Amino acid sequence: MSDITFEKLSDNVGIEVLDVDVDRLLNDDEIPAWCLDALDTYGVLLFRELNADDDAQVAFGRRLGELVKFPQYANPEVMEISFDPANPSAKYFGANDHWHLDGSLDEIPAKASIMSARVIAAVGGETEFASTYAAYDALTETEKRRFAELRVAHSMSGVQSRANPNPTPKQAADWARWPVREHPLVWNHENGRCSLVFGATAAHVVDMDLDEGKALLLDLEQRATAPDRVYRHTWTVGDMVMWDNRGLVHRACEFDRSEPRRMHRTTLAGEEAIG
Ligand code: OGA
Ligand code: MN
Repeated sequence: MSDITFEKLSDNVGIEVLDVDVDRLLNDDEIPAWCLDALDTYGVLLFRELNADDDAQVAFGRRLGELVKFPQYANPEVMEISFDPANPSAKYFGANDHWHLDGSLDEIPAKASIMSARVIAAVGGETEFASTYAAYDALTETEKRRFAELRVAHSMSGVQSRANPNPTPKQAADWARWPVREHPLVWNHENGRCSLVFGATAAHVVDMDLDEGKALLLDLEQRATAPDRVYRHTWTVGDMVMWDNRGLVHRACEFDRSEPRRMHRTTLAGEEAIG
């Protein structure tokens, strides 16, 4: 029986893990299975003021599975999330304030992400999470039947044009290099549960009138992310949060982008295609 204790952070999503420090995270044999199991059940694990450095965050991630490599960074297992112009990916973070799941343009999206706050914004810059399993479960039976047939086209221009509706020809060409990816609206997971797949990259519903499809996607997103269904994390430097990227959507809340807010993210590679 595990003696890891925790407290719920909201009705639908998230727990705070208590009594776990970096040493325990890296050395307790129970930790990997416990975390993966809790992640599946609660979606978000918060380790408040853990103060794990990059090496500890990566070592923890490796205990849980294979890590995604981001070759544009000196430490390729740590992605820097910031608007610092020197950050090679800064231009792609502009739409992080729209609900999304990471890697929705890939065939197999990330399994989970682990993110620590290094520098926080003076005002705003919280991160919000909402369960897309709960979103599916809340559908009517008629909707479940209807949505089982639908497919959604996801694209980089779909997401980037939200942050930048008037791209330069070069930007538009950059976006167009990413493949358009079709996913079913309903993800039947290997764990037997179903979730909805929507969010920032979702451009339109396949074989549906464009406006009707957009309205449907917006309605589903609004229902899933109504304030009482969301866990909003207000960061303290040193907090580490891990989220299940398969049954959740997340977004960054508004902040002054000229501020040096900086998060360090380590990502567990996906194992299951959306299907
Ligand atoms: C991400 C992300 C949100 C934030 O790193 O994938 O969406 O609050 N971050 O920075
Ligand atoms: Mn993200």
